[in-house]
Amino acid sequence: MKVKPWLSHLKPYPPGKTLEEILKESGSLTTIYKLNSNENPLGPSPKVIEALRKSLSEIHLYPEASYLTLRKALSEKWEVFPEEVILGNGSNEVIEFLFKAYLFEGDEIIVSEPSFLMYTKFAEIYGVNIKRVSLTGELCHDLEGILKALSPKTKMIFLDHPHNPTGQCLKRKDWEAFFQRLPKEVLVVMDEAYGEFIEDEEVPLGIEFIKKGYPVMVVRTFSKFYGLAGLRLGYGLGRKEIIQELEKVRQPFNVNLLAVKAGLSVLSDLEYQKKTRELVLTGRKFLTKALSELGFKVYPSEANFIMGDFGKRVDQIYEALLSAGIFVRPLKAYGFPTSLRITIGIEEANAKLIEVIKRTISG
Ligand SMILES: Cc1ncc(COP(=O)(O)O)c(C=O)c1O
Repeated sequence: MKVKPWLSHLKPYPPGKTLEEILKESGSLTTIYKLNSNENPLGPSPKVIEALRKSLSEIHLYPEASYLTLRKALSEKWEVFPEEVILGNGSNEVIEFLFKAYLFEGDEIIVSEPSFLMYTKFAEIYGVNIKRVSLTGELCHDLEGILKALSPKTKMIFLDHPHNPTGQCLKRKDWEAFFQRLPKEVLVVMDEAYGEFIEDEEVPLGIEFIKKGYPVMVVRTFSKFYGLAGLRLGYGLGRKEIIQELEKVRQPFNVNLLAVKAGLSVLSDLEYQKKTRELVLTGRKFLTKALSELGFKVYPSEANFIMGDFGKRVDQIYEALLSAGIFVRPLKAYGFPTSLRITIGIEEANAKLIEVIKRTISG
């Protein structure tokens, strides 16, 4: 059977190693710190575990088809209508809905280079042209460059904010100036997979712009802050007219019953949310300061990870961390061969990481 020709050069998404793979490779190591996929290092919320136990006896039933209960909970959180919320099997699926519903073959999207890989992956699958705009010298989204790159074929702009893998964000005034100059027909997809970790008050959330009537769609996930990566749950926020079209391409029951129950439960677990945010914000400050003091460039992150440039010592440091049971993400595939992306871990993991790096560079 002949495959679609434009798929022939596509490569599968390169994921971080799973816990099983890590355990297999780590041999005799007893403690492993998985800092390679930006998951919640606290593990799942205890309330979620309890809710899932109770729901196990219901898994022979389909979930609520409209997902209204969870959409309502999210709409209350964001002070929007439930019709302005759509659920996905991970936020990746919400991104794919946009391609399915709106992007024709030959249309054009703009992305930052590098950024989260799935925008271009979907573009390739759906035959959509990609215009890549390099990050600025400071590795931020280049909004000016994006405006210059617009063409009559540009339909959407995908921007991860915080950006993956640098963790950086732009200020409200920069976004405002951008929207003032952007043609109304172009939709900006603000991917806030790490939005819950933003601390800087000058950094806006996409919902502000939706409420102002700008052409924005926000994509969010339960995989990071809410600790549900394995259950696959994400959502989109946007104008009713857009969500209504996305609903048409959504498979029935795309989100499984356990994910719905877990999502509802963790949304109400404010203690877990507070603990997660405190852990990440404190750990982020600690790691940024400690690595900077060791002489490495660390980008100012608003996410639950940091990107550090370790120069020519990168491989040595990566190997030393591996041997100590600390798994981080090399960034060669993103075009940053001397950098590592490090998920903020529990206090003990962060301290050990610094200790290992100190030992490595002094040895
Ligand atoms: C920027 C960004 N967007 C989206 C996702 C996908 O998340 P999900 O697990 O919700 O599909 C990720 C995951 O790493 C990400 O980094």
